[in-house]
Amino acid sequence: MKDTNNKVIVITGGAGGIGMACAKTLTDYKLVITDYSQAAVDKAVTELKSAKINAVGFACDITDKAAVNKLTDFTAEQGHFTGLVHAAGVSGTVGNPEVVFNINLLGTDIIVDAFYDLAQEGSAVVLFSSMVGHTIPPNPEYDVALLKPQAADAFKKIAPFIGGNADNMYNFSKRGVMLICKDNAMRYGKKGARIVSISPGIIMTQMAQKAAEEHPERMKLMKQLTPAGRNGQSEDIADVVKFLLSKDARFITGTDILVDGGILSELLNPENQALLTH
Ligand SMILES: NC(=O)c1ccc[n+]([C@@H]2O[C@H](COP(=O)([O-])OP(=O)(O)OC[C@H]3O[C@@H](n4cnc5c(N)ncnc54)[C@H](O)[C@@H]3O)[C@@H](O)[C@H]2O)c1
Repeated sequence: MKDTNNKVIVITGGAGGIGMACAKTLTDYKLVITDYSQAAVDKAVTELKSAKINAVGFACDITDKAAVNKLTDFTAEQGHFTGLVHAAGVSGTVGNPEVVFNINLLGTDIIVDAFYDLAQEGSAVVLFSSMVGHTIPPNPEYDVALLKPQAADAFKKIAPFIGGNADNMYNFSKRGVMLICKDNAMRYGKKGARIVSISPGIIMTQMAQKAAEEHPERMKLMKQLTPAGRNGQSEDIADVVKFLLSKDARFITGTDILVDGGILSELLNPENQALLTH
């Protein structure tokens, strides 16, 4: 039975580092925790419930449209839809650029389309880009495909620009997330809803840990180049997500918020650009 008193927030990638930190911060809401595997979802929900957080789980592959539609149906049954934190994603360490494309970009577009149906006055969507998305310059030749990843030939159009490299595809996918965010602001706005992307810098979740193991020297240099003097923690991002979902952020939509400890401007300095190439 639907309880309209519940303000519902959905967290994709909810069993992951940033997703879980967001869940622990969003204590005033009923949370729908969703992730790829049922076992991971169950573990996350058990942990949250033991911390007295109102959470339910729903396993879902975000690249599967039919599964995402079931997720939105499930969400609608939980109460008043208030927000979506779309933190599901993979890094280039998966190795296959098409997998990165499918999860980070196609999956994001599917999620943004599906949750548009639930969007209503006062609700907000937070997407996850990355600081590396800011390092990919605008180019109409690939931007058209980044913006419309559900088009049949989208990956083929991007492929010539990434040299078969999954890390490069990661960077391009994150530019795509920012483009999708901007492109959806008006239609979400017409429903009184907002959509924003957030670009974390280096946040020490499992995802970043894997990258650190693959490129330890690069990670060390990155830390030295961070004006904040440290790598980020999931909580640094979760606090900003909480703000972006709140009424205090009511005039922020269709834009990206960089939360990187100041490192991006250092990386864009020509002296340091080698750190961005793979
Ligand atoms: N950690 C960082 O340094 C960093 C930096 C910039 C951006 N980001 C972005 O932040 C978001 C969260 O990253 P994180 O560090 O928490 O990563 P994480 O690996 O800890 O969590 C990601 C979660 O997404 C889930 N997932 C992957 N594919 C999925 C699919 N097809 N369907 C459903 N769920 C799926 C994984 O199971 C995992 O639980 C990602 O989009 C990532 O690209 C992270």
